[in-house]
Amino acid sequence: MFQDDLLKGKRALITGGGTGLGKSIGRRYAELGADLIICGRRVEKLQETKEVFQRDIGATVTIHQCDIRDPDAVEAMMSDIWSSGSLDILVNNAAGNFIAQTKDLSHRAIDAILGIVLHGSAYCAVACGRRWIEANRPGVILNILTTSALYGAAFQVPSAMAKAGVASMTRSLAVEWGPKGIRSVAIAPGPFPTEGAGSRLRPDDLDDFPMADDIPLRRVGEHSELSNLAAFLVSEEAGFINGEIVVIDGGKSLQGVNGSATQSMQNWDDTKWASIAEKTRGR
Ligand code: COA
Repeated sequence: MFQDDLLKGKRALITGGGTGLGKSIGRRYAELGADLIICGRRVEKLQETKEVFQRDIGATVTIHQCDIRDPDAVEAMMSDIWSSGSLDILVNNAAGNFIAQTKDLSHRAIDAILGIVLHGSAYCAVACGRRWIEANRPGVILNILTTSALYGAAFQVPSAMAKAGVASMTRSLAVEWGPKGIRSVAIAPGPFPTEGAGSRLRPDDLDDFPMADDIPLRRVGEHSELSNLAAFLVSEEAGFINGEIVVIDGGKSLQGVNGSATQSMQNWDDTKWASIAEKTRGR
């Protein structure tokens, strides 16, 4: 899909890059020539990913153990990264989420999610933005949201609130930092299964409610589809895209907007449609 050197010479930091979607995005960036920096809380996961990328694609990967909820840890990581060269791309990917009845959430549970998604993304964006502005360098921030940022998500309220805040940060910084050559963009993915999301969002066997059933394309997303979009958006080919939130969900978020009646119409056969035509023609 892309030239092999699309991201050559670019240095990209992906938060939560050791696992899940962040790992898939990192792999694609490295394949396209980027020098990769990944951070996360679990150093063994980061190390494992680094070794896989080095072995499979000969990637240059640096790892940083960092809990992005801690502003001092973020600052220390950024200082260290910038001491060996500037960064070109920040991907705010690290997230935390679980399903629960909102009435039962403790304040610490709410804070845990807001701390990672809302505060952590802001700490990273500001730490990078300040350095880009001081050095008079361009940069790109890519925020990984979910469609809950746009439409909300029952039983995942802290995550939806936090992602909505990051969506607002995307649009706000696009305007504030655009004149300085810093782009701010986001992706709002629908269902892209990962181990982490599976255990937290679908902990029970939900065979009676297959995920693909309420997606118009009748399938979940492939990681390669998301990581290619993530590569395009941070590349110079997307240089005029700023403040945009790209939904990639197979049309899932529009399903409800089209009404529940549409759902059952999807299952009507030709005989049913013929009888409907009889009843509606000429009226
Ligand atoms: N339901 C309700 N409350 C929960 C919970 C759940 N599934 N998981 C954690 N909590 C609560 C804890 O009980 C605690 O509150 P309390 O002290 O009042 O009891 C609070 O949240 C913090 O939990 P703790 O385990 O100390 O936090 P943590 O920082 O280690 O974990 C999480 C953060 C909760 C977000 C954890 O799920 C995590 O680390 N996730 C990272 C990966 C992830 O979620 N990825 C997204 C996949 S979609």
